[in-house]
Amino acid sequence: MLERTLVIVKPDGVRRGLVGEVLRRLERAGLRIVGLKMLHLSRPLAESLYAQHRGKEFFEPLIEFMTSGPIVAICIEGDNAVSRVRALIGPTNPAEAPKGTIRGDFGSNIRENVVHAADSLQHAQREIALLFREEELIS
Ligand code: CMP
Repeated sequence: MLERTLVIVKPDGVRRGLVGEVLRRLERAGLRIVGLKMLHLSRPLAESLYAQHRGKEFFEPLIEFMTSGPIVAICIEGDNAVSRVRALIGPTNPAEAPKGTIRGDFGSNIRENVVHAADSLQHAQREIALLFREEELIS
């Protein structure tokens, strides 16, 4: 099924010059970039993006980190894009992520793990709508 999902290069990935590497891996996998922007997340937007984690012990430091510098938001389209992107980035904890995945190759720790990707089609739609207006996405 043709799906759209959201990928974010987190502040650590931007600081370390990994934007091009993430885009290259997505394109090489045959996924299509349909939206792309760099921005500095406001606290309310970061909290909304991660609303499902509110109340967890890592929530506050996660919001601090995600608002610590610019991010790059990428809207990706392709067959089964949600699961294919999740496979490309690897598990949340870089220590458990296989080599060849983005987090396995570049992640520093469970919080500073270079990229975020939506974990379901439902979350993807919600997250895309938080970061892109309809007219900012190509058809
Ligand atoms: P992400 O895929 O963006 O989704 C939620 C984020 O919270 C996750 O990547 C990590 O950056 C962070 N996170 C998840 N679990 C933990 C944890 N146990 N400790 C610190 N940060 C976490």
